Amino acid sequence: MQVRDVVIPEHVAIIMDGNGRWARKRMMPRTYGHAQGSRIVEQICKDAYNMGIKYLTVYAFSTENWRRPKSEVDELMKLLRSYLANSIKDSSKNNMKVRVIGDISILPDDMQSSIYELEKASEKNTGLQFTVAINYGSRDEIVRAARAAARDAAEGRISYDDINEELFSQYLDTRDIPEPDLLIRTSGEKRLSNFLMWQTAYTELYFTDVLWPDFNKDELAKAVQYYSSRTRKFGTV
Ligand code: FPP
Repeated sequence: MQVRDVVIPEHVAIIMDGNGRWARKRMMPRTYGHAQGSRIVEQICKDAYNMGIKYLTVYAFSTENWRRPKSEVDELMKLLRSYLANSIKDSSKNNMKVRVIGDISILPDDMQSSIYELEKASEKNTGLQFTVAINYGSRDEIVRAARAAARDAAEGRISYDDINEELFSQYLDTRDIPEPDLLIRTSGEKRLSNFLMWQTAYTELYFTDVLWPDFNKDELAKAVQYYSSRTRKFGTV
């Protein structure tokens, strides 16, 4: 899609990094940074949609995040729990379709129920398609997909020879969303950290030093501008 000479990416993925450093700069506990980081998510969703972005995917909790101190894991779960609960109402107000990717089977029962309810309540919404990665890791996703494909082959639902990139991608958590056009990572780190590694094979990568709680519409616009300049120069391959 093109608006006033800017090529708008259809799908943007974000690694929301830097909450801990943002809090430390203010002599506050890391959990304060996560709370602030969580607060800006709804606004970024609105800004993204108003810019013409159709899909937004965020890395909220990775398979590696369980290794953090228990108090921090508990706080992140508390924030996610409240986000999921509030999203049922917000998604209907904003016409947003919300999905969760990752292995949610090990999450507490109440969170699994909230996810199920939220996905069900928002599935017909036609605005932004917002995907939240919780207990997500690319390697884990690929292993789960390989296991499911192997089971289908062993039980005769598919033939081993049918397994190609296209079919395999149908076993991934992201089967119903397009691959990201642009991936943004905040806070200056330049790694994928096990996020959407299969799906970002051709994605433009944008790194900014801005810490996630300071990320806003102007920063999103800069990332989109970068994407636009790259695609104009090199085409879409
Ligand atoms: C990385 O910052 C951020 C996280 C591990 C969690 C991201 C989660 C949120 C923003 C809140 C919940 C999300 C939603 C969708 C409501 P870091 O702690 O690694 O920061 P640091 O690198 O400065 O230590």
